[in-house]
Amino acid sequence: MSESPQSPQPTSLRVPGRGPLRGRVQVPGDKSISHRALILAGLADGVSTITGLSAGLDVHHTRVIMQAMGVEITEESDGDGSTKVGTLTVTGGALAEPRALLDVGNSGTGARLLAGVCAGQPFRSVITGDQSIATRPMDRVVHPLRAMGADIEGRESGRFTPLVIQGGHLRGIDYTPPVASAQVKSAILLAALSADGTTVVREKVVTRRHTEEMLAEHGVAVTSDVDGDGSVVTLEPGPVMPGTFAVPGDPSQGAFWICAAAAIPGSDVTVDNLYLGRERTGFLDVLLAMGADLDIDREAGVVHVRGAELRGTIVRGSQLPDLIDEVPALSIAGAFAASGTLRFEDAAELRTKESDRIDTVAAMVTALGGDAVAGPETLEISAKPLSAGRVVSHHDHRIAMALAVAALKAGGETIIEDAEAINKSYPDFYEHLKLLGANVSLRIN
Ligand code: S3P
Repeated sequence: MSESPQSPQPTSLRVPGRGPLRGRVQVPGDKSISHRALILAGLADGVSTITGLSAGLDVHHTRVIMQAMGVEITEESDGDGSTKVGTLTVTGGALAEPRALLDVGNSGTGARLLAGVCAGQPFRSVITGDQSIATRPMDRVVHPLRAMGADIEGRESGRFTPLVIQGGHLRGIDYTPPVASAQVKSAILLAALSADGTTVVREKVVTRRHTEEMLAEHGVAVTSDVDGDGSVVTLEPGPVMPGTFAVPGDPSQGAFWICAAAAIPGSDVTVDNLYLGRERTGFLDVLLAMGADLDIDREAGVVHVRGAELRGTIVRGSQLPDLIDEVPALSIAGAFAASGTLRFEDAAELRTKESDRIDTVAAMVTALGGDAVAGPETLEISAKPLSAGRVVSHHDHRIAMALAVAALKAGGETIIEDAEAINKSYPDFYEHLKLLGANVSLRIN
């Protein structure tokens, strides 16, 4: 495995409580789409181009793993030889048995999607990751992949990594995942590409559709039909065609600026080049229900937000998949609100993320003097002014970024420990925080 591009050194971030955010920002390439672009370009027989790839550590791990399975990846450069950031040439095709462990780092998406890829390959591979990955549920992909014929072993009977996968000779299945998870759906669809017969995935609640959309764009016979709140995705095995994968900006990263600016009166922020598919923008609906002042141009991928006085609202379980990663950012808007309580219901899935986000979001808000209540499956954040302090990221990138925007209205300097977690998805976060007007500083501890 090659060295990662970002410094893993423990870093603290100092954010002065300075108030409104103002300006225009273009967020980095979407993390979910970046993983899929690397995987699909690697499976496609021929040369593909990827533009706008996320520079985060998670995506870097997926890139190194695809290379370890024989995919050639080169960074494109301009005429003067300088690297064009996020633009890659990928030569894919038949994958080769990896000689080393496949290390996904901190990436649950990497672990689960690549388990699906490896299940479809006629060789043995071992997927592992960091301490946090070792605690995250893998049985949700191991069960359906075993049902397709893959031989998978893992710690505690396949509940956790490391996963040892002997793939190949799969058969299609008709499967209803017990949890609403795009990662599970995607793992099954990626394995199904090389299975015998049709695969059907029935979702009770629709989750992000990137895998089926990108597969269809690259020549695979896959359809998705609405079924009540859910969907039925049907895939016929077949090759992925090489081509261009243009990665748009990440709404989950844009959410930090949009949620904070929406709740800080006087703010005026425009976020450009965003992916704004419905299954990724539930947070905008919640902000609107809280009284936010937003202009959303879905065609252009632009959101313009002006600060306003917000109020609390209730987010039902059926809304959760469309905003699953935006709960930390929304919670800051809930704390900054002028009145009421922001309540997430049927939200147990939050406990399976990079950290247990019911507990860590509540801890983050209370550490800054706010009012939060964590229930077994619920989370409540009440409107209450936050105060500056010394806080920890719980090694969770989204908690670190939510703390940084929370600090903007905390009336003093906030110090966030273990802020290097941000490199997982958004290495330019500090630069963008400065661009929008905050005079932040970083300290390598
Ligand atoms: C992702 C799906 C979501 C999300 C994760 C990325 C994906 O997970 O939380 O950050 O790229 O498919 P689940 O589908 O497991 O909820």
